[in-house]
Order: sequence, then C-alpha cells, then structure tokens
Amino acid sequence: MQRSLNIKGVTIKNRFAVPPMVCFEWSDDNGYVTDKNIAHYTEYAKGGFGLIIVEATAVTKRSRLADTELGIWDDSHIEGLIKITDAVHEYGSKVFIQLLHAGGNGIDTEPDAPSDMIYRNVNHAKEMSKECIKKTIDDFAKAAVRAKKAGFDGVELHGCHGYLISNFFNSRTNKRSDEYGENKALFAIETLKAVKEACGDSFVTGIRFGGFEPLLEDGLKNAKAIEAYTDFIDVSYGGDCDAYAPDDFKCSPAVYAAKMIKESMPEMPVFCVHNINSKEDVINALNTGVDMVDIGKASLVDPHFAKHLLNDEEYGHCLHCSNYCRWNPWEMKDPGKKCPGAIKFADIVLK
Ligand SMILES: Cc1cc2nc3c(=O)[nH]c(=O)nc-3n(C[C@H](O)[C@H](O)[C@H](O)COP(=O)(O)O)c2cc1C
Repeated sequence: MQRSLNIKGVTIKNRFAVPPMVCFEWSDDNGYVTDKNIAHYTEYAKGGFGLIIVEATAVTKRSRLADTELGIWDDSHIEGLIKITDAVHEYGSKVFIQLLHAGGNGIDTEPDAPSDMIYRNVNHAKEMSKECIKKTIDDFAKAAVRAKKAGFDGVELHGCHGYLISNFFNSRTNKRSDEYGENKALFAIETLKAVKEACGDSFVTGIRFGGFEPLLEDGLKNAKAIEAYTDFIDVSYGGDCDAYAPDDFKCSPAVYAAKMIKESMPEMPVFCVHNINSKEDVINALNTGVDMVDIGKASLVDPHFAKHLLNDEEYGHCLHCSNYCRWNPWEMKDPGKKCPGAIKFADIVLK
C-alpha cells in the first residue's frame, strides 16, 4: 500500500485514493468553490492520500445532479478550482477531478439521455439527437481544458451510477438503433478521444466505470472497448445493474468487478471501491491485483485514514449508520451530531 503508482508520468505516492464524493450544500447555484471545499480537500492531502479525486463537477449547468454542486461549465470556475489544486499539491498528493453530466438522473425535468425514458418517476428524459451528442462531447472537452488550466493532474469522466455515460453503456437505458446503440461504448470512446484531443495525449484522462452495466459480462466488454482510449479505469457499480461476487470473495462485488477487469488487461491501472473500511479490507482489496483502493465513507469519517493506516495508528471507521451522517446526501442530518465511527477525529468530520 506504500508503493507509488505511475499513470502516464503522474506519480502517485501510495495506493490510497479518495474517490469523488459530492459535498452537497457547500456550493451554491453558481457552482463556485467555497472555503469549505478547499479546507475539505486540504485535509485529505494532509491525511496522506496519494490521490484525491475531486467530486462530480458539472460540465454544464443543465446537466447537474444537484443545484448546490461544483461546476466547471465556465472559465470563471477556474479560479476557485486552482485553490484546491494548489492546496493539495502543497502536501505532495495528486489531484484529479471528476467530470459529470448527470444524464437521465439530472435535476432538469427534461434531461438529455440516450433514449426517451422516465427516470426516478419524475424525469422525462429525451433521446439525444446527433447534434446534441456532439455538443455534449464538446462540453466535456471544454470542461477538461478548464481542469487542466486549473492545475489538475488528470480528469476522470463520471461513467457509472446511472449518469449520462452510464446511461449510454447500459442496454436497459440505451435503446437506440443507431451506432450509439449498436456500440454502447461509443459515446464514452468519443468523449475520451475529444478530451485527449483538447488537452493533449499526455494529460491523464480516465473514467469511473460500471463493472456491472447491467451485468459483469457487459462491464468486461465495455472495458475492452475503451481500453485503448483511457489511462485508468476506476471501477464502481453501473446504473440499473445486477452486481454479484462469489460467496468466498472477501470484498464487495464492485471490487470483484475491478479484479476481473484488471485480470483482463494487466497493464491498465485499475482502481476499486466499496466498503474498504479497515486495514484488513485494504490488504484484501490490493491482494486481488488492483492498483489503487478508493476509500469513500471511511475517508469522510477519518480524512487522515491513509496516514493513520500507514503509520499503524488508530483510525476512524464508517459504521454505516447513515441516519446520523452529515454526509448522507439525501437526508442532511443534524451537523452537531457526533459520528460514532469517527473516534477521536469527530471534530474533523463535523467541521
Ligand atoms: C456523500 C457521498 C457523495 C458521493 N458522490 C459521488 C460522486 O460525486 N461521484 C461518484 O462517482 N461517486 C460518488 N459517491 C460514491 C463514492 O465515491 C463511493 O463509490 C461509495 O461511497 C462507495 O464507497 P465506500 O463504501 O468506500 O463509501 C458518493 C458517495 C457519498 C457517500
């Protein structure tokens, strides 16, 4: 877990990453970085994480998943984002940013999606025309250029969890009869290529990707399709998907999908996520052969989780008591409530 990892010349000092996690309610309708965002990411860098992936950041205002999330749809966002990259770099960590188009699951009541479909019983998504697809790919490329200008070491396309790229990958949401339906990975491929063309091949460009989209066999097929165009694959769950792992597998299904993808392309840097909450979990996950572990809720509980584990110090755990959690995005709870998993780090968590 202490070994460095090199992705296209970007050297990450260890195998601990903070995955993207939206800090709901911290920004405002304009999507600008706030002091809270800067302090939050600085804390992770101080806490020893080799890589920090800044939360899902919207490439257009219309395509947000929440009206208080960070944005990168305008050059005026760059100034605030520079404050994050400068702060993280000061402590020797690398920092990527996740670029989001929320697709059918966005806040717009008539959002863009591969096919006409009702999402979450409220969103009447409209099938994107070819012009709309072209424009959206260009929006991603322009956002990536802004990320590069802001000093990020790379970008990660949000390609999982039922947002736009995931909608295209998944046969349950992509019902198109054109080339974007025949090749479910085509939208992701064209977006990755456009980002590379806009930012240069040496700029790290990867994707967070559904290992089950909807099934593992689709995840493996999609991974092969994008292999030549991405610098890393960060494996999570798909949108509408059926996830599973063998009974004797020690980690979560998402980690199992990451292991299977890594086995199918040993040269590709592969990240894994989900329920990696202790030193034993980290060791089990890395023993599957993947290159990087994403520490999600455990890093919210203890932003110094990486440093504490590496130094054999006491660390905070997520106890999955989401009803009490300040971070539960759907029910923002009493911010004064103590996090029982945080042990002595509660003061950091509740800031
Ligand atoms: C508050 C919160 C916000 C999240 N926001 C994002 C996000 O912006 N992008 C993303 O890909 N996943 C997001 N996720 C999912 C996490 O990155 C991670 O995959 C998930 O929490 C599982 O990992 P864990 O078990 O270590 O928490 C979010 C999760 C939480 C708890």
